[in-house]
Amino acid sequence: MNHPCYICGLGSCIPPRVMTNHDLEKLVDTSDEWITTRTGIKERHVLENGVNASDCGLNAARAALDEAGVRPEEVTHIFVATCTPDYLCPSTACVIAGKLGISSGSGRMGNVMCMDFNAACTGFVYGLELARNVIQTHPDAVILLVATEALSRRTNFSDRSICVLFGDAAGAVVLRSDPAGALWELRDVLCSSDGSLNELITIGGGSACQISEGSVVGPEWFISMQGMAVFKHAVRSMTDESLRVLERNGISLDELDLFIPHQANLRIIKAVGERLGIDENKVFANVQHYGNTSAATLPVAMEDARRSGALKPGMKVLLTSFGGGMTWGSALLA
Ligand code: UT7
Repeated sequence: MNHPCYICGLGSCIPPRVMTNHDLEKLVDTSDEWITTRTGIKERHVLENGVNASDCGLNAARAALDEAGVRPEEVTHIFVATCTPDYLCPSTACVIAGKLGISSGSGRMGNVMCMDFNAACTGFVYGLELARNVIQTHPDAVILLVATEALSRRTNFSDRSICVLFGDAAGAVVLRSDPAGALWELRDVLCSSDGSLNELITIGGGSACQISEGSVVGPEWFISMQGMAVFKHAVRSMTDESLRVLERNGISLDELDLFIPHQANLRIIKAVGERLGIDENKVFANVQHYGNTSAATLPVAMEDARRSGALKPGMKVLLTSFGGGMTWGSALLA
């Protein structure tokens, strides 16, 4: 890579409405004790009716742009990682651009490129890879990467194996090659997938769901998951990908300041930390407060880690994630 890629703004948005484990005890046959011991989750946040993934993403985007000192009209690319877009068309990226007041011709390079992509929970890591490659061909690019999810809209609140796990949130970063005001340099990214495992996590409602006016929504529209198979794959893939990215950058685990894994389950987070042999004080977790917010977990965790003082600009940070597809990946910041 000839041109460096810097993160110069970070923001997150957490919907105010909270659903605790005790709230879920009233909806399904579950208990705070089961959810806490199996997942670590105590509460999750859900969007109010009428507030969508684009609205939550917009708030996170505004915070990231403010920190970067970037005006919306300076943005050249908006990439949105989501598996719960507002619509099949238009893209959530275009909806956010519209809400930011960005229109054709307002970008520094002319028109603004907007698109969504779906790598499920690995979306943020995939987006970092996308951004650093765009910067190679467009060194003047100012990229807004938003990860936003409205998973509660595809959660069956009568399915106890699913509804306790997920929540809504958004995070965003601004990336560019200009080091002025940089928080971290994006040193490296690795992205992987195995499409033969595509049935392990599904969310319906795409064009494979044939509908006509008045159709009844069936169970296939909601999140479904083969939990234990996903669990095993998650631990293996995040561990291996993290070691690969460290190795190819000549960085040892001891040199890392912070490890931020995907926030799906505290047991997975601990298992990956233990397999890597990393000091547990360097493993960041906030899944207790939000549940699994898919693509949004990493930027939300980065922002929470920063607020808690655990993450500072310039620190060596390893991010890693896995999700539906299956997809997985790791990114190194410094
Ligand atoms: O971002 C990627 C998304 N996915 C993940 O990261 C999830 C990965 N998987 C997991 O985190 C875990 O597999 C789960 C938390 C989903 C499940 O934990 P588990 O230890 O694998 O439990 P299980 O699915 O084997 O279920 C154990 C028991 C079952 O009862 P029986 O068959 O043993 O009688 C379930 O019916 O727990 C029961 N159960 C529940 N009980 C109370 C399942 N969900 C619940 C619940 N409350 N909410």
